[in-house]
Amino acid sequence: MYVAQPIAWTDQGVVMLDQRRLPADEINYTYTDYREVAKAIRDMVVRGAPAIGVAAAMGVALGVQKSRARNVEELKTEFAAICETLAKTRPTAVDLFWALERMKARFAELTRATREMEQIRRALVEEAKLVHAEKKDTDDAIGRYGAEYMPKEGQVMTQCNAGALATAGIGTALGVIRVAYEQGRKIHVLVPETRPYLQGARLTAWELHRGGIPLTLITDNMVGHFLKSGKVGAIVTGADRIAANGDTANKIGTYQIAVLAKENNVPFYIAAPISTLDLSIASGEQIPIEERSAAEVTHIQGVRIAPDVPAAHPAFDVTPNRYIAAIFTERGVAKAPYTESLRKFAEEIPAKVAG
Ligand code: MRU
Repeated sequence: MYVAQPIAWTDQGVVMLDQRRLPADEINYTYTDYREVAKAIRDMVVRGAPAIGVAAAMGVALGVQKSRARNVEELKTEFAAICETLAKTRPTAVDLFWALERMKARFAELTRATREMEQIRRALVEEAKLVHAEKKDTDDAIGRYGAEYMPKEGQVMTQCNAGALATAGIGTALGVIRVAYEQGRKIHVLVPETRPYLQGARLTAWELHRGGIPLTLITDNMVGHFLKSGKVGAIVTGADRIAANGDTANKIGTYQIAVLAKENNVPFYIAAPISTLDLSIASGEQIPIEERSAAEVTHIQGVRIAPDVPAAHPAFDVTPNRYIAAIFTERGVAKAPYTESLRKFAEEIPAKVAG
């Protein structure tokens, strides 16, 4: 089955599929400067929490590879500036900060062990490639755990795009759907278009269609109508940051879907890797919500659809844990009370630094 490739490390640089242009055009860019990688993250050439993490790790490796530092001390100063630039791109998806922390830890380890610049450069490229490669295994495991919770037959709803484009593996929420479909479950996916950036219409519809999985595209204001029909067996979305108590930030619109799911007795699930957990914050109230440009609301792909009036664009919202039936991770399925179940799964990794 077709799996999109949003990002790759090559000898020429970091290659990214421009997700702003999908589905009309499939254009790849090759970035040779870490500042370009940072801009690509900010401008949404690459998006989706795990894929942003991969991009940040590759950005660090690229920055170090291209550095003109003459010794390890100079490199340390430059390394800090590279990480700082990449950290300032998007504030909500914690995978970005997870990836930067991981690259920092590797850099510290290397600079303690050697003064050989070439060795440090090579090792950081390997680490970024590893971050990328691990996403594939992670998504496969999330898919296997989550598929058990999908209906044998019926409709499944998602939100935004948590597919291969968003993770560099098979996807988290769409990975669950894909595995369930490959197991022979007769799933039909309802895809809300996900205004204002249209990740549902442009990206999820494209991925499912390419993968041969049946879908129906709906507008965001049809969600309640379809959930009330009694035909939707489950909802599964991705996440950008999950607090210690299970409160989950995901694409704007997810919260209202979760509330409507509860009203209509449809189980609402989150699918996310351990790297999306932020156990350093107790609840969703502490999750920083990215505010994007109002022009993304007043315009669609450059075409004005509203008068020149103020418009708001919070890019994410937080779904309180009480609406979440389970969280599928690569280490198993977490259920309430999440403070205990998530901590148990995360035990092996250090707590994350909030961005
Ligand atoms: O603004 P985006 O497109 O980066 O937002 C993406 C989402 O909200 C996804 O659902 C989330 O990052 C999970 S991707 C596996």
